[in-house]
Amino acid sequence: MSTETTTRNQGATGAGAVVLQDITKSFNNSPVLTGISLTIQPGETVAIMGPSGSGKSTLLHCMSGVLVPDAGKVFLGDTNISYLSDAKRSALRLNKFGFVFQDGQLLPELTARENVALPAILRGEPRGAALKAADDMLTRLGLGDLLGRRPGKMSGGQAQRVAIARAIATKPQVIFADEPTGALDQQTGHEVMQQLIAVVEQSGSTLIMVTHDAKVANWCQRRVEIRDGIIHDDRMLAGAGAHSVLNNRSVERVN
Ligand SMILES: Nc1ncnc2c1ncn2[C@@H]1O[C@H](COP(=O)(O)OP(=O)(O)OP(=O)(O)O)[C@@H](O)[C@H]1O
Ligand SMILES: [Mg+2]
Repeated sequence: MSTETTTRNQGATGAGAVVLQDITKSFNNSPVLTGISLTIQPGETVAIMGPSGSGKSTLLHCMSGVLVPDAGKVFLGDTNISYLSDAKRSALRLNKFGFVFQDGQLLPELTARENVALPAILRGEPRGAALKAADDMLTRLGLGDLLGRRPGKMSGGQAQRVAIARAIATKPQVIFADEPTGALDQQTGHEVMQQLIAVVEQSGSTLIMVTHDAKVANWCQRRVEIRDGIIHDDRMLAGAGAHSVLNNRSVERVN
């Protein structure tokens, strides 16, 4: 078999498809992921669940090129991102991905609107347009009063919503979210998920989201559970589409 063939993605293709082939990852000789293969279609919304310490964040970081797995391949469409140089992987993350990290990671010296506008500005979009889009997204997520506030003067839940606004403002091909509603009360979490799913559906983004909360997972079309380093369960959710704001796509997928 030629190198070309062995490195080709044999699953889904197209912008926003994410394919994992037999991913393994250990820390200090302790295996965390021991053989994960997964094909996520463009535009699919997927909840990753599993016990604390089971490797959900590690999996998300491997999928998004933040971490390089010890073995196995990660494709975005036809591109094997594990083989890209660090610079190319960084460019990919900036141009194609949106991130909500578990620990927020807002820049403390920037205001809410500057934090949200930053990825677009780094991509080379005009500053005025990026700030306007940031204001719109923050307002949509109920933070219209906090546009000029810095993260140090926000509650944990407000900071988390700013991080969500930042991840989705540029309507990336793939949104990776690590417990995006973890710091939110139930009602705010519900409203934020509604907006997140609406943006995902409008822009055709793929959403890959870690959550501990089965109700939050139910906003997605599919739930993947990891346990003991492998995929323990992978199913389409019967309720998917019940929350759907715009489309019939998720309903069709589960029928
Ligand atoms: N950088 C690291 N160095 C060493 N060990 C790590 C590192 N990152 C994660 N681990 C370990 O890998 C395992 C999986 O961690 P991970 O953060 O992926 O779990 P998780 O499923 O996201 O947990 P949680 O639900 O608590 O966020 C844990 O045992 C953790 O201690
Ligand atoms: Mg985690």
